[in-house]
Amino acid sequence: MEKKEFSGEVYYASEKIVDNAHGKNWEEICKSAEDSLEGFWAKEAEELHWFKKWDKVLDDSNKPFYKWFTGGQTNIAYNCLDRHTETYRRNKLALIWEGENGDFRSFSYFALRRDTCRFANVLKSLGVKKGDRVTIYMGRIPELMIAMLACARIGAIHSVVYGGFSVEALHERLEDSQSKVLIVSDGSFQRGKTVYLKQIADEALQRAATVESVLVVKRTGEPVNMEAGRDMWYHELMKLPIANNNCNVEVMDAEDPLFLLYTSGTTGKPKAILHTHGGYMVGVHSTLKYVFDIHEDDRYWCAADPGWITGHSYIVYGPLLNGATSFMYEGAPTHPFPHRWWQMIEKYGINILYTAPTAIRGFMKYGDNWPNRSDLSSLRLLGSVGEPINPEAWRWYHKIIGKEKCPIMDTWWQTETGMFIIAPTPGVPLKPGSGTKPFAGIKMDIFNEDGKSVGPNEEGYLVITTPWPAMLRTIYNDPDRYVSQYWSRFPGVYMTGDSARRDEDGYFWIIGRVDDVIKVSGYRLGTAEIESALVSHPAVAEAAAIGLPHEVKGNAIYAYVTLKTGIEKSEKLIEELRQHVGHEVGPIAKPEHIEFTDLLPKTRSGKIMRRVLKAKALGQDPGNLSTLEE
Ligand code: WTA
Repeated sequence: MEKKEFSGEVYYASEKIVDNAHGKNWEEICKSAEDSLEGFWAKEAEELHWFKKWDKVLDDSNKPFYKWFTGGQTNIAYNCLDRHTETYRRNKLALIWEGENGDFRSFSYFALRRDTCRFANVLKSLGVKKGDRVTIYMGRIPELMIAMLACARIGAIHSVVYGGFSVEALHERLEDSQSKVLIVSDGSFQRGKTVYLKQIADEALQRAATVESVLVVKRTGEPVNMEAGRDMWYHELMKLPIANNNCNVEVMDAEDPLFLLYTSGTTGKPKAILHTHGGYMVGVHSTLKYVFDIHEDDRYWCAADPGWITGHSYIVYGPLLNGATSFMYEGAPTHPFPHRWWQMIEKYGINILYTAPTAIRGFMKYGDNWPNRSDLSSLRLLGSVGEPINPEAWRWYHKIIGKEKCPIMDTWWQTETGMFIIAPTPGVPLKPGSGTKPFAGIKMDIFNEDGKSVGPNEEGYLVITTPWPAMLRTIYNDPDRYVSQYWSRFPGVYMTGDSARRDEDGYFWIIGRVDDVIKVSGYRLGTAEIESALVSHPAVAEAAAIGLPHEVKGNAIYAYVTLKTGIEKSEKLIEELRQHVGHEVGPIAKPEHIEFTDLLPKTRSGKIMRRVLKAKALGQDPGNLSTLEE
């Protein structure tokens, strides 16, 4: 493409990178997908293993309950492991792992398949069957991956709860998913400290009744409480004769559920997003292949956490489906020093690094000398996800980390979308702060209040107007909410919850959420979760949470609290409330700032007007106040 065709600040990848890329003819690929959506996805699906080929690529007879690859039979874990162990990849490294304390482990595809089989047999011996839900709550250790794959292998539905969540968040997810089994680690290492995950789990289990077995992975070795008849050590189970090295794979229908992942929405409790074996597998495999252009000899590092969708799709499933070698790191980015990541990039020869803007801004703070101490010349591609990347951070990442030779793949997507939706491939001209255009076969638009497409550079609601294979199928146990939350604001069109604009080149620029979701350091939290944690404290009558701009975190949580009559306001109470939110939801949800107020702005129907609080905090005009009660 000619450079002069694009407006604004534009960056191009080197010819070498583009010529070697899987998506070298990206425009042609996009054109073919536009001509035949089903043809494109069928071709992508053919790269994977199917026990039985599908009858139909896309079944849209019951919108918005779309189905993909119906009649097809497959198993994603089989595709992640067995498909490779039957080839030269048997001895290839699937996973390289480093602990925060310097521990090191690595797994070939052969070893990862074997350990997955063994653990799958353990689960089976505990009575776990196809369709049963299993909750996984751990730090970033290989067993987390093994547990997910073992569930998938036997057709159990995993529900991973991020290791940074705490008691009530875990309890809610155990209860909603009705999990019979919980797999947990004794603890994890973060910033040189131990997080006592088993202890948190014990407290959550006192509130949750469905769990029959708790399997405990030893990571820290610190003493934990083991309840007789319920709790068992992973390493002991893996030594038993039942932990056979082979485990028959469960043949799954393409539309059979693979996992639940809870995420925050507009109101109320977190909702369980449901993804399936077939379509999710095809979408994740294909997007990672084209966007991060994984090659046989690459070492790829997605620095997210497996407990979030980025980790599910692009630490666990995507890399393994592509037969890649990935790297996983347990700990905090700047521990013990701010060059921990850069040292590991040099040490392991990482070629592709995928992280979040908040991490980049965090590193920027420490200056250029830390990354400059390491040899980062192995890097070829960089990635960003989770929130809009400010152009300043983009340029720093490009220059200081990528040495001006690594294109940055800014990928926009969601827990619900399962796979990248807006993302470039290495040859697409880049503009700092834009994820460029939708992936092949995907159409998007920006709507005004009336559902009409807006003009160039006008802000509006970001929507997706075509189905895609890794799309969520429903909200587990709540199909009505699935329809009302995503498909009702503009009938027949998927509502993302984000606002955006599209420039004169057709590039999308994300502005932010339009609902009550707050992105803190790229983590997705709901105002409702924070508020209900606050009101569960005996001193609190009412609470409202909002997100305000923060230099490193993107957004920080501010909470407004009305105390019960007779309770005295104090600094000590503020700290107690922050700790309480940390204990109930997790440290990431602790409000940055809590302010006591005697009254919260509400509509006549009693809904808190967070917009008014936000405007006040930012010293802006609160806008239309006609619905305000007092
Ligand atoms: C935001 C994370 C701008 C967006 C994969 C979306 C982004 C929400 C980007 C989903 C990006 C994600 N640029 N904003 N590249 N990627 N977002 O479900 O607001 O944790 O709706 O999935 O993150 O968050 P989730």
